[in-house]
Amino acid sequence: MKHEGFERLIREILPGMGYMYRPMNRRNIRRKVARRMEEKGIHEWDNYLDLLKKDRAERTAFEQILRVTITRFFRNAGMWEELGNLTARIWALQPVDRVISVWSAGCAGGEETYSLAMLFEQLTSDGKLSQDWEILGTDSDTNSLKRASQMIYRWGSVREIPGQLRERWFAEKDDSWILDPSAGQNITFQQHDILNDPAPDSFNMILLRNNILTYNTEPVQRALLSGLQKCMEPKGLLFIGRKETVPEDTGFEMLSDSIYCKTDD
Ligand SMILES: C[S@@+](CC[C@H](N)C(=O)[O-])C[C@H]1O[C@@H](n2cnc3c(N)ncnc32)[C@H](O)[C@@H]1O
Repeated sequence: MKHEGFERLIREILPGMGYMYRPMNRRNIRRKVARRMEEKGIHEWDNYLDLLKKDRAERTAFEQILRVTITRFFRNAGMWEELGNLTARIWALQPVDRVISVWSAGCAGGEETYSLAMLFEQLTSDGKLSQDWEILGTDSDTNSLKRASQMIYRWGSVREIPGQLRERWFAEKDDSWILDPSAGQNITFQQHDILNDPAPDSFNMILLRNNILTYNTEPVQRALLSGLQKCMEPKGLLFIGRKETVPEDTGFEMLSDSIYCKTDD
């Protein structure tokens, strides 16, 4: 088998670390692991496997290599439209003097987080959202958070933004799309590991998209979801990715393919 040593390494180490063996971008990860081994002066996959087994800090570094950071604004645009309609309907029933608090967990370069800000601005200006709102965007990857703070994006990131929103929020310059700084005024970015750091609280909505529910095993997903439950307000919403599902009996009820509601405690 091609790349047998690498395959053996990930097959052996991933399940114990709570990652699924299946959906990895093999080539990319293999290259990054090879680079890491070179830095460590290790030449054999099996020797790196031994290191991973005994060295917790190395497992943390390896985990960061596994984490895919590909994203874009309004990823799966139809789902965002649905999110806008649903949140407008639900929050219309809430007191207007409360602040809607949202956590974009595993936000990569901020594309998801700023999309949310644009959506809320749009709902507000359409008279469909009366409350103030604040968004926390977190990721474990510092490079991604740096991109989020720079607010400069490439076409691949902005291509799914509905046309008039792209014009409203971006200035195009030298093949880059520069986001208006006001998009970030209600957003705080912070480094945070969803699986290893205590969950911040307390939120009316959490976005958990294209990370843990795709790459981690079901026991890890269940443990996380029961923790997320506790940091959500009653009737809090959970917005997940297009190909993801929330395991049954985790305290969330499905409202649509990608939107769930916290059930009563
Ligand atoms: C594929 S991107 C998806 C970004 C965005 N949520 C989206 O749907 O487009 C996954 C992001 O989740 C982050 N991530 C994965 N596991 C994480 C963890 N345990 N803690 C914090 N961030 C994590 C990765 O660093 C990466 O930036």
